Amino acid sequence: MKIDIVTLFPEMFDSPLSHSIMKRAIENDLLEVNMVNFRRFGSGKHQHVDDTPYGGGAGMLLKPEPIFQSIEEIQQRSPITNKRIILMDPAGKPFDQSMAEEFSKEEHLIFICGHYEGYDERIRSLVTDEVSLGDYVLTGGELASMVMMDAAVRLIPGVLGNEESAETDSHSSGLLEHPHYTRPAEYKGMTVPEVLMNGNHKLIEEWRHMESLKRTFERRPDMLEKRELTDQEKDWIKQ
Ligand code: ADE
Repeated sequence: MKIDIVTLFPEMFDSPLSHSIMKRAIENDLLEVNMVNFRRFGSGKHQHVDDTPYGGGAGMLLKPEPIFQSIEEIQQRSPITNKRIILMDPAGKPFDQSMAEEFSKEEHLIFICGHYEGYDERIRSLVTDEVSLGDYVLTGGELASMVMMDAAVRLIPGVLGNEESAETDSHSSGLLEHPHYTRPAEYKGMTVPEVLMNGNHKLIEEWRHMESLKRTFERRPDMLEKRELTDQEKDWIKQ
């Protein structure tokens, strides 16, 4: 996958891209990340990228030209790839696991990271998606795009090793993950559930499914509204 980040602060991405799984994905040629600093396309001696809103009001808006020119430069460099052009915006569609799955299947993602009060509206005509990390306002789109990129890249086949498999992730099945235990069998008086130690895989699977469901019911009942429950699952919840 190819990712372009359109940002005023490319250095913010240095650390996340040079550690752990993202670093390995780049080294293994599963991921290529380019930075486009749109300050280069700012106007005047001071390369301004923002201006005051027509009609008055507080705050500055990102001007259209630097963003349009950044996207044109990327298009010229990679004309044939299938692209998603994603605008970071607290007023966008909330990001979730299914969006991460969609993004992970694309050949080329372009994240546009804004700052200041907002975007000149014409910038929206360039993009395929307007996405928010959540219902809060960050100082800019950089951190939001890092989170989205991380969630999508780990789903690209070959990026995670076997031990790090994404198949049992919380959210991938529509349920939260069940509890996990490793050695020791007892720690500070807290013990591992007997069922996990008796080697009966059918019982272990059933226990895990039930615990996933109970945890989801307690912590995220909203997730169950999107899911049809079996009769047995309904019984488990009642327990
Ligand atoms: N920029 C500022 N806040 C944001 C958010 N919540 N999501 C995406 N981009 C943002």
